Amino acid sequence: MAEIIDGKSIAEDVVAKVKEGAAALKASSGTVPGIAVVIVGEDPASQVYVASKSRKAKECGFHSVQHSLPETTTEDALLGLIGDLNSDPAIHGILVQLPLPDHMNSGRVIQAVAPEKDVDGFHFINVGKLGTGELETAFVPCTPAGAMVMIERARGRDLSGLNAVVVGRSNIVGKPIANLLLKANATVTIAHSRTHELPALCRTADILIAAVGRPKMIGGDWIKPGATVIDVGINRVPAPEKGEGKTRLVGDVDFVAAEKVAGAITPVPGGVGPMTIAMLMANTLTAAARAAGAEVPTF
Ligand code: GUN
Repeated sequence: MAEIIDGKSIAEDVVAKVKEGAAALKASSGTVPGIAVVIVGEDPASQVYVASKSRKAKECGFHSVQHSLPETTTEDALLGLIGDLNSDPAIHGILVQLPLPDHMNSGRVIQAVAPEKDVDGFHFINVGKLGTGELETAFVPCTPAGAMVMIERARGRDLSGLNAVVVGRSNIVGKPIANLLLKANATVTIAHSRTHELPALCRTADILIAAVGRPKMIGGDWIKPGATVIDVGINRVPAPEKGEGKTRLVGDVDFVAAEKVAGAITPVPGGVGPMTIAMLMANTLTAAARAAGAEVPTF
């Protein structure tokens, strides 16, 4: 049976390091890391995410501000707020919660965040730095950064000689994680919905990343014995066994089948999910340390 990679416990470990790092930064430079989270509209899922980001930031000892704007906010007003936050020296990290309302151009909004405060890692400058391996000054998107911390704990920092297959080519997960794996010397293949012979390709993977958003798509017979399996999928499916109208979360991997074959595997929930907020805190501390000219912690 596979080792279960416990995302909750690794995330707690990262957050503990962030708290220590924030205290050390304050003691050495007087800088308190500051994060601004911006949400537009009333989407209930986004409200929950944003509240937990703000809460975790306070727990880390950060200066944390939340801007909740009405659905009817104009794009110009949002861009004005981002401009103010870009020039506010107390704010080191800015996160604009996605999705934005339909009347806004998300691309334009994302590119308005100053790259050195872009703790989501979505700005073209940060995407380009990741693509060219300039990680010293980049911000890496939080979910792939968290997945990579888990892979390092399972397989070490040097993945030379290992085959990694990433299933999914999104800008937020698939492409950035492929770049991180490449930087760590893995031999990387990005697969997607048009890939032929996907099960056979997955069976070549020493490290298999599932990031497609299709419940239990990856079966046990797709997995190489002993592989490290990182399931980034979070899919809500009906759970009639829990009662009428109830739901539960499952990943992109058929966990019960996969854990019999894999060497190590992340569960859903409790795997990559908790790592995302932890890495947002880590990125914010990194932004503050860079701004203060202090040593930048590693996670
Ligand atoms: N909405 C869902 N996930 C994310 C994320 O990682 N960053 C932002 N900004 N919005 C999101």
